[in-house]
Amino acid sequence: MVDVESFVTDARAEISEALGEDTAIIALSGGVDSSTAAALAYEAVGEQLVPVYVDTGLMRKGETDEIREVFSFMDTLRIVDAQDRFLDALEGVTDPEEKRHVIGEQFIREFETVADEVDADYLVQGTIYPDRIESEGTIKSHHNVGGLPERVDFEGIVEPMRDLYKDEVREVARHLGLEEIISERMPFPGPGLAVRVLGEVTAEKLEVARESTAIVEEELEEYDPWQAFAAVLGKATGVKGDNRVHGYVVAVRSVESRDGMTARAQELEWETLQKLQSRIAGTIDNVSRVVYDVTHKPPATIEYE
Ligand code: XMP
Repeated sequence: MVDVESFVTDARAEISEALGEDTAIIALSGGVDSSTAAALAYEAVGEQLVPVYVDTGLMRKGETDEIREVFSFMDTLRIVDAQDRFLDALEGVTDPEEKRHVIGEQFIREFETVADEVDADYLVQGTIYPDRIESEGTIKSHHNVGGLPERVDFEGIVEPMRDLYKDEVREVARHLGLEEIISERMPFPGPGLAVRVLGEVTAEKLEVARESTAIVEEELEEYDPWQAFAAVLGKATGVKGDNRVHGYVVAVRSVESRDGMTARAQELEWETLQKLQSRIAGTIDNVSRVVYDVTHKPPATIEYE
């Protein structure tokens, strides 16, 4: 475990030294990594930093409003409403890696627009150690590591947390006084709910994933999972009232992990599982079935795509 105080002092110095009088930009997703990197950099250089939050429409319930509130102390924060543009770009896309690519491209386009507008010289990124390791292998592309630096002509990139593990980032976040909804937030993938919706991403499936995930997060809080969420798998027959319906199958996933590289499915009480199915299938109209995923990583991954 790093010594948090000296890490923060060194990271601040690294950031201000790299930037000098120049302007930097950071993609703020609301996840603990980018939020902590943004808070560190904002402490170091203040309004020389422009944090950009892109509302992709692939975020969890209430997330954009939360970000607006938590980061209201950053006067330079930009919130870009790009929901329609992401949905349009994803139309007809079913291959998981293609989805990541389309989302990454659209994200870069949105980000580039702001970077040009504010004439940013530097890019700050919340890359952490496991991101670098997974991206070096061929497990899957993580768009928060690749892409941006090649496309936008920055003078330099600053990655103050490149050697930290997730639990160390959380410690830094707490040290910086970031609110618990950020410091204790579960990891959330860059491509958001798009990798929790199998096949084509539609507004309807996103809504099911979003509402179900909100229920899962609430019901499973006491299990303190590394990640807990709902994914939309496909459609299956069910009965609601007197009618046969062809509704969505929602998978609940709840895992324990240290760094996301391996994970164990959590053992949940039968009562908890029943509560989940009754809330999800009972309150979300077009859901006909709820299943619990008992697969560890490996052989599964944490996300569905
Ligand atoms: P997997 O699904 O590979 O996930 O077991 C491991 C950890 O990484 C997150 N994840 C992503 N994060 N971009 C990200 O920023 C991605 O494309 C991506 N895919 C997975 C996942 O939520 C888990 O914490």
